[in-house]
Amino acid sequence: MERIHLDTVILNASELLTLSGASHAPKLGSELGELGIIEDGGVAIRGNQIVAVDTTKNIKRLVKPGSHPRVIDAKNKTVLPGLIDPHAHLAFAGSREREFVQKIQGATYMEILESGGGINVTVKATHKASRNTLVRKGQHTLNRMLEYGTTTVEGKSGYGLEPKHEYKQLLAIRDLNLIHPIDVVPTFMGAHVIPTKYKKQPEKYVNLIIKKMIPTVAKKGLAEFCDVFTEKGVFSIEQSRQILLAGKEHGLIPKVHADEMTTFGGAELAAEVGAVSADHLLKVSKTGINALAKAQVVAVLLPATAFVLMETQYAPARELINAGVPVALATDFNPNCMTESMQLIMTLACLNMRMTPAEAISAATINAAHAINRSHLVGSLEPSKQADIVIMDVPNHEHIPYHFGVNLVKNVLKNGKIVYLTQ
Ligand code: NIG
Ligand code: FE
Repeated sequence: MERIHLDTVILNASELLTLSGASHAPKLGSELGELGIIEDGGVAIRGNQIVAVDTTKNIKRLVKPGSHPRVIDAKNKTVLPGLIDPHAHLAFAGSREREFVQKIQGATYMEILESGGGINVTVKATHKASRNTLVRKGQHTLNRMLEYGTTTVEGKSGYGLEPKHEYKQLLAIRDLNLIHPIDVVPTFMGAHVIPTKYKKQPEKYVNLIIKKMIPTVAKKGLAEFCDVFTEKGVFSIEQSRQILLAGKEHGLIPKVHADEMTTFGGAELAAEVGAVSADHLLKVSKTGINALAKAQVVAVLLPATAFVLMETQYAPARELINAGVPVALATDFNPNCMTESMQLIMTLACLNMRMTPAEAISAATINAAHAINRSHLVGSLEPSKQADIVIMDVPNHEHIPYHFGVNLVKNVLKNGKIVYLTQ
Protein backbone atom coordinates (compact mmCIF):
# COMPACT_ATOMS: atom_id res chain seq x y z
CA MET A 1 0.00 0.00 0.00
CA GLU A 2 1.30 3.48 -0.78
CA ARG A 3 2.04 5.95 1.99
CA ILE A 4 -0.87 8.27 2.60
CA HIS A 5 -1.91 11.30 4.57
CA LEU A 6 -3.42 10.15 7.87
CA ASP A 7 -5.04 12.20 10.62
CA THR A 8 -4.72 9.70 13.45
CA VAL A 9 -3.01 6.38 14.07
CA ILE A 10 -3.61 4.04 16.97
CA LEU A 11 -0.56 1.86 17.65
CA ASN A 12 0.68 -0.96 19.91
CA ALA A 13 -2.69 -2.40 20.98
CA SER A 14 -2.06 -5.66 22.84
CA GLU A 15 -5.29 -6.88 21.26
CA LEU A 16 -7.12 -5.19 18.42
CA LEU A 17 -10.59 -6.70 17.97
CA THR A 18 -11.60 -6.13 14.35
CA LEU A 19 -14.92 -8.06 14.33
CA SER A 20 -14.39 -8.11 10.58
CA GLY A 21 -16.24 -10.09 7.93
CA ALA A 22 -19.78 -9.81 9.28
CA SER A 23 -21.01 -6.53 7.81
CA HIS A 24 -23.35 -8.22 5.31
CA ALA A 25 -24.85 -10.81 7.62
CA PRO A 26 -24.70 -11.09 11.41
CA LYS A 27 -22.44 -13.56 13.18
CA LEU A 28 -24.13 -16.90 13.85
CA GLY A 29 -23.24 -19.89 16.04
CA SER A 30 -19.50 -20.38 16.48
CA GLU A 31 -18.74 -17.20 14.48
CA LEU A 32 -19.82 -15.20 17.54
CA GLY A 33 -16.70 -16.43 19.31
CA GLU A 34 -14.38 -15.11 16.59
CA LEU A 35 -13.26 -11.53 17.13
CA GLY A 36 -10.69 -11.22 14.34
CA ILE A 37 -7.94 -10.36 16.82
CA ILE A 38 -4.71 -8.68 15.69
CA GLU A 39 -1.98 -8.79 18.33
CA ASP A 40 0.18 -5.67 18.53
CA GLY A 41 -2.40 -4.03 16.31
CA GLY A 42 -3.00 -0.56 14.95
CA VAL A 43 -5.60 1.50 13.11
CA ALA A 44 -5.06 4.22 10.51
CA ILE A 45 -7.71 6.95 10.33
CA ARG A 46 -8.34 9.66 7.79
CA GLY A 47 -11.19 12.10 8.31
CA ASN A 48 -14.07 10.19 9.83
CA GLN A 49 -13.08 6.86 8.30
CA ILE A 50 -10.90 3.87 9.01
CA VAL A 51 -8.29 3.50 6.27
CA ALA A 52 -6.45 0.42 7.49
CA VAL A 53 -6.43 -2.07 10.35
CA ASP A 54 -3.23 -4.09 10.68
CA THR A 55 -0.19 -4.78 12.86
CA THR A 56 1.54 -1.75 14.38
CA LYS A 57 4.50 -2.33 12.08
CA ASN A 58 2.37 -2.21 8.94
CA ILE A 59 0.33 0.79 10.11
CA LYS A 60 3.58 2.73 10.75
CA ARG A 61 4.64 1.96 7.18
CA LEU A 62 1.56 3.75 5.84
CA VAL A 63 2.49 7.11 7.33
CA LYS A 64 3.71 9.57 4.71
CA PRO A 65 7.14 10.98 5.63
CA GLY A 66 6.83 14.54 6.90
CA SER A 67 3.14 14.13 7.76
CA HIS A 68 2.33 14.21 11.43
CA PRO A 69 -0.73 12.18 12.33
CA ARG A 70 -1.91 12.22 15.92
CA VAL A 71 -0.51 9.07 17.55
CA ILE A 72 -2.53 7.25 20.20
CA ASP A 73 -0.48 4.71 22.09
CA ALA A 74 -2.58 1.70 23.05
CA LYS A 75 0.21 -0.28 24.74
CA ASN A 76 -1.23 -2.96 27.08
CA LYS A 77 -4.71 -1.94 25.98
CA THR A 78 -7.53 -3.50 24.01
CA VAL A 79 -8.93 -1.64 21.01
CA LEU A 80 -12.40 -2.49 19.71
CA PRO A 81 -15.29 -1.00 17.73
CA GLY A 82 -17.44 1.55 19.55
CA LEU A 83 -20.13 -0.36 21.45
CA ILE A 84 -23.62 -0.32 19.98
CA ASP A 85 -26.71 -0.26 22.16
CA PRO A 86 -29.64 -1.31 19.96
CA HIS A 87 -32.44 -1.04 22.54
CA ALA A 88 -32.87 2.02 24.76
CA HIS A 89 -35.79 4.20 25.81
CA LEU A 90 -34.54 7.78 25.54
CA ALA A 91 -35.57 11.30 26.38
CA PHE A 92 -38.15 10.69 29.10
CA ALA A 93 -38.76 12.79 32.21
CA GLY A 94 -38.86 11.83 35.89
CA SER A 95 -37.56 8.75 37.67
CA ARG A 96 -38.97 5.71 39.44
CA GLU A 97 -36.66 4.96 42.37
CA ARG A 98 -39.66 4.35 44.63
CA GLU A 99 -40.70 1.43 42.46
CA PHE A 100 -37.20 0.05 42.83
CA VAL A 101 -37.92 -0.18 46.56
CA GLN A 102 -41.43 -1.64 45.97
CA LYS A 103 -39.89 -4.36 43.82
CA ILE A 104 -37.36 -5.20 46.51
CA GLN A 105 -40.30 -5.54 48.90
CA GLY A 106 -42.04 -8.03 46.61
CA ALA A 107 -44.22 -6.15 44.07
CA THR A 108 -43.90 -7.38 40.48
CA TYR A 109 -43.38 -5.16 37.43
CA MET A 110 -46.85 -6.04 36.06
CA GLU A 111 -48.56 -5.40 39.44
CA ILE A 112 -46.99 -1.94 39.58
CA LEU A 113 -47.98 -1.25 35.96
CA GLU A 114 -51.57 -2.49 36.41
CA SER A 115 -52.07 -0.33 39.52
CA GLY A 116 -51.26 2.80 37.50
CA GLY A 117 -47.53 2.94 38.24
CA GLY A 118 -44.60 2.01 36.00
CA ILE A 119 -44.71 3.38 32.45
CA ASN A 120 -47.79 5.51 33.37
CA VAL A 121 -45.76 7.50 35.91
CA THR A 122 -43.10 8.29 33.32
CA VAL A 123 -45.81 9.23 30.80
CA LYS A 124 -47.25 11.83 33.23
CA ALA A 125 -43.82 13.34 33.86
CA THR A 126 -43.00 13.35 30.13
CA HIS A 127 -46.27 15.14 29.31
CA LYS A 128 -45.30 17.97 31.65
CA ALA A 129 -41.79 18.34 30.25
CA SER A 130 -40.89 20.57 27.31
CA ARG A 131 -38.91 19.30 24.32
CA ASN A 132 -35.89 21.16 25.68
CA THR A 133 -36.16 19.54 29.10
CA LEU A 134 -36.28 16.13 27.42
CA VAL A 135 -33.20 17.03 25.39
CA ARG A 136 -31.30 18.11 28.53
CA LYS A 137 -32.16 14.86 30.30
CA GLY A 138 -31.28 12.85 27.21
CA GLN A 139 -27.93 14.61 26.92
CA HIS A 140 -27.07 13.54 30.42
CA THR A 141 -27.85 9.93 29.50
CA LEU A 142 -25.86 10.07 26.26
CA ASN A 143 -22.84 11.65 27.99
CA ARG A 144 -22.69 8.72 30.34
CA MET A 145 -23.20 6.20 27.54
CA LEU A 146 -20.31 7.73 25.61
CA GLU A 147 -18.01 7.59 28.65
CA TYR A 148 -18.83 3.89 28.92
CA GLY A 149 -17.92 3.26 25.29
CA THR A 150 -21.23 3.42 23.41
CA THR A 151 -21.00 5.28 20.10
CA THR A 152 -24.37 4.38 18.52
CA VAL A 153 -27.65 3.94 20.37
CA GLU A 154 -31.24 3.27 19.44
CA GLY A 155 -33.79 5.63 21.06
CA LYS A 156 -37.44 4.70 21.48
CA SER A 157 -40.35 7.02 22.14
CA GLY A 158 -43.31 5.61 24.07
CA TYR A 159 -43.69 7.96 27.02
CA GLY A 160 -45.96 10.37 25.15
CA LEU A 161 -48.82 8.06 24.12
CA GLU A 162 -50.65 11.06 22.67
CA PRO A 163 -49.82 12.32 19.21
CA LYS A 164 -48.27 15.64 20.24
CA HIS A 165 -46.30 14.14 23.10
CA GLU A 166 -45.02 11.22 21.01
CA TYR A 167 -43.85 13.71 18.35
CA LYS A 168 -42.25 15.86 21.06
CA GLN A 169 -40.28 12.88 22.32
CA LEU A 170 -39.18 11.90 18.81
CA LEU A 171 -38.19 15.50 18.08
CA ALA A 172 -36.11 15.52 21.27
CA ILE A 173 -34.44 12.30 20.06
CA ARG A 174 -33.76 14.01 16.71
CA ASP A 175 -32.23 17.01 18.52
CA LEU A 176 -30.03 14.66 20.52
CA ASN A 177 -28.76 13.01 17.37
CA LEU A 178 -27.82 16.44 16.01
CA ILE A 179 -26.13 17.88 19.08
CA HIS A 180 -24.42 14.83 20.57
CA PRO A 181 -21.45 12.85 19.19
CA ILE A 182 -23.37 9.58 19.67
CA ASP A 183 -25.48 8.54 16.66
CA VAL A 184 -29.06 8.10 17.84
CA VAL A 185 -31.33 5.88 15.74
CA PRO A 186 -35.01 6.70 16.30
CA THR A 187 -37.83 4.20 16.92
CA PHE A 188 -41.52 5.06 17.28
CA MET A 189 -43.07 3.17 20.19
CA GLY A 190 -46.51 4.69 20.66
CA ALA A 191 -47.58 1.09 21.39
CA HIS A 192 -45.76 0.99 24.72
CA VAL A 193 -48.84 0.60 26.93
CA ILE A 194 -52.58 1.28 26.58
CA PRO A 195 -53.05 4.76 28.13
CA THR A 196 -55.31 4.85 31.22
CA LYS A 197 -58.04 6.78 29.42
CA TYR A 198 -58.31 4.08 26.70
CA LYS A 199 -58.29 1.14 29.13
CA LYS A 200 -61.93 0.30 28.35
CA GLN A 201 -61.56 0.82 24.58
CA PRO A 202 -58.05 -0.28 23.65
CA GLU A 203 -59.05 -0.58 19.98
CA LYS A 204 -59.53 3.18 19.88
CA TYR A 205 -55.93 3.69 20.92
CA VAL A 206 -54.71 1.11 18.39
CA ASN A 207 -56.64 3.04 15.75
CA LEU A 208 -55.12 6.33 16.83
CA ILE A 209 -51.66 4.80 16.41
CA ILE A 210 -52.49 3.31 13.01
CA LYS A 211 -54.50 6.14 11.48
CA LYS A 212 -52.76 9.16 12.93
CA MET A 213 -49.45 8.63 14.66
CA ILE A 214 -47.76 6.21 12.23
CA PRO A 215 -48.58 8.24 9.08
CA THR A 216 -47.41 11.48 10.74
CA VAL A 217 -44.22 9.98 12.19
CA ALA A 218 -43.39 8.50 8.78
CA LYS A 219 -44.25 11.66 6.84
CA LYS A 220 -42.12 13.84 9.11
CA GLY A 221 -39.26 11.32 9.02
CA LEU A 222 -39.26 11.07 12.80
CA ALA A 223 -38.45 7.35 13.07
CA GLU A 224 -36.93 4.41 11.19
CA PHE A 225 -38.46 1.61 13.23
CA CYS A 226 -41.82 0.86 14.85
CA ASP A 227 -41.85 -1.16 18.07
CA VAL A 228 -44.70 -2.72 20.12
CA PHE A 229 -44.79 -4.07 23.69
CA THR A 230 -46.50 -7.37 22.78
CA GLU A 231 -47.50 -8.86 26.12
CA LYS A 232 -50.43 -10.35 28.01
CA GLY A 233 -52.43 -7.39 29.35
CA VAL A 234 -50.64 -4.87 27.10
CA PHE A 235 -50.88 -5.28 23.27
CA SER A 236 -52.34 -8.56 22.00
CA ILE A 237 -50.80 -10.46 19.10
CA GLU A 238 -53.54 -9.23 16.76
CA GLN A 239 -53.22 -5.59 17.86
CA SER A 240 -49.43 -5.81 17.55
CA ARG A 241 -49.71 -7.35 14.08
CA GLN A 242 -52.00 -4.53 12.91
CA ILE A 243 -49.66 -1.85 14.27
CA LEU A 244 -46.48 -3.41 12.90
CA LEU A 245 -47.99 -3.97 9.45
CA ALA A 246 -49.33 -0.41 9.36
CA GLY A 247 -45.87 0.84 10.28
CA LYS A 248 -44.34 -1.32 7.56
CA GLU A 249 -46.70 0.12 4.95
CA HIS A 250 -45.37 3.54 5.88
CA GLY A 251 -41.74 2.41 5.69
CA LEU A 252 -41.18 1.90 9.43
CA ILE A 253 -39.31 -1.36 10.03
CA PRO A 254 -40.88 -3.59 12.71
CA LYS A 255 -39.30 -4.40 16.07
CA VAL A 256 -41.03 -6.30 18.89
CA HIS A 257 -40.78 -6.39 22.70
CA ALA A 258 -41.42 -10.13 22.65
CA ASP A 259 -42.06 -12.88 25.20
CA GLU A 260 -40.68 -10.88 28.13
CA MET A 261 -43.06 -11.79 30.97
CA THR A 262 -45.06 -14.64 29.42
CA THR A 263 -44.76 -17.05 26.50
CA PHE A 264 -47.04 -15.06 24.23
CA GLY A 265 -45.97 -15.63 20.62
CA GLY A 266 -44.12 -12.32 20.17
CA ALA A 267 -41.14 -14.07 18.57
CA GLU A 268 -43.34 -15.86 16.05
CA LEU A 269 -45.04 -12.55 15.23
CA ALA A 270 -41.65 -10.83 14.76
CA ALA A 271 -40.69 -13.53 12.24
CA GLU A 272 -44.06 -13.32 10.49
CA VAL A 273 -43.97 -9.56 9.94
CA GLY A 274 -40.28 -9.51 8.94
CA ALA A 275 -39.08 -7.62 12.02
CA VAL A 276 -35.40 -6.64 12.15
CA SER A 277 -35.29 -7.70 15.81
CA ALA A 278 -37.24 -9.41 18.58
CA ASP A 279 -36.17 -8.15 21.98
CA HIS A 280 -36.23 -9.53 25.58
CA LEU A 281 -37.29 -13.18 24.85
CA LEU A 282 -36.99 -14.40 28.44
CA LYS A 283 -39.95 -16.70 27.90
CA VAL A 284 -39.56 -17.48 24.18
CA SER A 285 -40.85 -20.92 23.11
CA LYS A 286 -39.05 -23.53 20.99
CA THR A 287 -41.37 -22.64 18.08
CA GLY A 288 -40.47 -18.99 18.59
CA ILE A 289 -36.74 -19.77 18.51
CA ASN A 290 -37.12 -21.76 15.29
CA ALA A 291 -39.17 -18.99 13.69
CA LEU A 292 -36.49 -16.40 14.57
CA ALA A 293 -33.77 -18.63 13.11
CA LYS A 294 -35.69 -19.25 9.90
CA ALA A 295 -36.44 -15.55 9.35
CA GLN A 296 -33.00 -14.44 10.66
CA VAL A 297 -34.54 -11.93 13.05
CA VAL A 298 -31.91 -10.58 15.46
CA ALA A 299 -32.63 -11.58 19.07
CA VAL A 300 -31.74 -8.55 21.18
CA LEU A 301 -31.15 -9.85 24.70
CA LEU A 302 -31.46 -7.47 27.64
CA PRO A 303 -29.95 -9.12 30.71
CA ALA A 304 -30.09 -5.94 32.84
CA THR A 305 -33.89 -6.05 32.63
CA ALA A 306 -33.96 -9.61 33.99
CA PHE A 307 -31.48 -8.41 36.64
CA VAL A 308 -33.66 -5.48 37.83
CA LEU A 309 -36.77 -7.65 37.73
CA MET A 310 -34.84 -10.11 39.93
CA GLU A 311 -35.77 -12.88 37.50
CA THR A 312 -34.10 -16.22 37.96
CA GLN A 313 -34.78 -17.09 34.33
CA TYR A 314 -32.80 -15.10 31.74
CA ALA A 315 -33.23 -15.32 27.96
CA PRO A 316 -32.00 -18.68 26.62
CA ALA A 317 -28.93 -17.27 24.87
CA ARG A 318 -27.26 -20.64 24.31
CA GLU A 319 -30.36 -22.19 22.77
CA LEU A 320 -30.79 -19.18 20.50
CA ILE A 321 -27.14 -19.30 19.41
CA ASN A 322 -27.25 -23.07 18.83
CA ALA A 323 -30.44 -22.71 16.78
CA GLY A 324 -28.73 -20.23 14.44
CA VAL A 325 -30.51 -17.08 15.64
CA PRO A 326 -28.34 -13.92 15.38
CA VAL A 327 -27.89 -12.70 18.96
CA ALA A 328 -27.23 -9.09 20.06
CA LEU A 329 -27.11 -7.37 23.46
CA ALA A 330 -28.49 -4.02 24.67
CA THR A 331 -29.05 -2.08 27.89
CA ASP A 332 -32.84 -1.52 27.65
CA PHE A 333 -32.02 1.78 29.38
CA ASN A 334 -35.38 3.03 30.75
CA PRO A 335 -36.75 4.31 34.09
CA ASN A 336 -37.17 0.70 35.25
CA CYS A 337 -33.71 -0.37 34.12
CA MET A 338 -31.28 2.41 34.90
CA THR A 339 -27.98 1.54 33.36
CA GLU A 340 -26.12 3.18 30.50
CA SER A 341 -23.29 0.67 30.62
CA MET A 342 -22.85 -1.90 27.85
CA GLN A 343 -19.85 -3.14 29.87
CA LEU A 344 -22.23 -4.23 32.66
CA ILE A 345 -24.49 -5.83 30.05
CA MET A 346 -21.61 -7.96 28.77
CA THR A 347 -20.78 -9.11 32.31
CA LEU A 348 -24.43 -10.05 32.96
CA ALA A 349 -24.58 -11.84 29.58
CA CYS A 350 -21.55 -13.91 30.55
CA LEU A 351 -22.51 -14.74 34.12
CA ASN A 352 -26.28 -15.12 33.76
CA MET A 353 -26.64 -16.34 30.18
CA ARG A 354 -23.28 -18.12 29.98
CA MET A 355 -22.16 -16.33 26.86
CA THR A 356 -18.36 -16.26 26.53
CA PRO A 357 -16.57 -12.89 26.61
CA ALA A 358 -15.96 -13.12 22.86
CA GLU A 359 -19.62 -13.92 22.16
CA ALA A 360 -20.75 -11.00 24.33
CA ILE A 361 -18.41 -8.61 22.49
CA SER A 362 -19.71 -9.74 19.06
CA ALA A 363 -23.26 -9.30 20.35
CA ALA A 364 -22.50 -5.77 21.61
CA THR A 365 -20.82 -4.59 18.40
CA ILE A 366 -21.40 -6.03 14.91
CA ASN A 367 -24.55 -8.02 15.73
CA ALA A 368 -25.95 -5.02 17.61
CA ALA A 369 -25.32 -2.96 14.46
CA HIS A 370 -27.40 -5.46 12.47
CA ALA A 371 -30.29 -5.04 14.94
CA ILE A 372 -30.60 -1.37 13.89
CA ASN A 373 -29.56 -1.70 10.23
CA ARG A 374 -26.22 0.06 10.73
CA SER A 375 -23.82 -2.82 9.96
CA HIS A 376 -22.59 -1.13 6.76
CA LEU A 377 -21.34 1.84 8.81
CA VAL A 378 -20.34 0.66 12.28
CA GLY A 379 -19.84 -2.39 14.51
CA SER A 380 -16.43 -3.50 13.20
CA LEU A 381 -13.00 -2.05 12.51
CA GLU A 382 -12.61 -2.34 8.75
CA PRO A 383 -11.47 0.01 5.99
CA SER A 384 -14.14 2.53 4.96
CA LYS A 385 -16.20 2.08 8.13
CA GLN A 386 -16.79 5.01 10.49
CA ALA A 387 -13.85 5.50 12.84
CA ASP A 388 -15.92 4.75 15.97
CA ILE A 389 -13.38 3.16 18.28
CA VAL A 390 -13.02 2.39 21.98
CA ILE A 391 -9.74 1.85 23.79
CA MET A 392 -10.09 -0.07 27.04
CA ASP A 393 -7.50 -0.18 29.77
CA VAL A 394 -7.24 -3.97 29.76
CA PRO A 395 -4.61 -6.27 28.21
CA ASN A 396 -7.08 -8.61 26.49
CA HIS A 397 -10.76 -8.93 25.64
CA GLU A 398 -11.57 -11.43 28.40
CA HIS A 399 -10.91 -8.72 30.97
CA ILE A 400 -13.83 -6.66 29.62
CA PRO A 401 -16.66 -8.67 31.23
CA TYR A 402 -14.36 -10.13 33.90
CA HIS A 403 -13.47 -6.79 35.52
CA PHE A 404 -16.89 -5.34 36.29
CA GLY A 405 -18.60 -2.49 38.13
CA VAL A 406 -16.01 0.06 37.02
CA ASN A 407 -15.42 1.89 33.76
CA LEU A 408 -12.59 0.33 31.75
CA VAL A 409 -12.77 2.89 28.92
CA LYS A 410 -9.67 4.99 28.38
CA ASN A 411 -10.49 6.72 25.06
CA VAL A 412 -13.44 6.95 22.73
CA LEU A 413 -13.14 8.08 19.12
CA LYS A 414 -16.28 9.00 17.22
CA ASN A 415 -16.03 9.65 13.50
CA GLY A 416 -12.26 9.84 13.91
CA LYS A 417 -12.37 12.50 16.65
CA ILE A 418 -11.38 11.92 20.27
CA VAL A 419 -14.59 12.55 22.21
CA TYR A 420 -13.61 11.01 25.52
CA LEU A 421 -10.20 10.76 27.12
CA THR A 422 -9.21 9.85 30.68
CA GLN A 423 -5.97 10.99 32.28
O1 NIG B 1 -38.31 -2.74 27.60
N1 NIG B 1 -41.24 -3.82 28.62
C1 NIG B 1 -41.64 -2.71 28.28
N2 NIG B 1 -40.93 -1.61 28.15
C2 NIG B 1 -39.73 -1.32 28.79
C3 NIG B 1 -39.91 -0.81 30.17
C4 NIG B 1 -40.39 0.57 30.16
C5 NIG B 1 -40.67 1.13 31.54
O2 NIG B 1 -40.88 0.38 32.50
O3 NIG B 1 -40.71 2.37 31.61
C6 NIG B 1 -38.75 -2.49 28.69
O4 NIG B 1 -38.39 -3.13 29.68
FE1 FE C 1 -37.57 -1.88 26.11
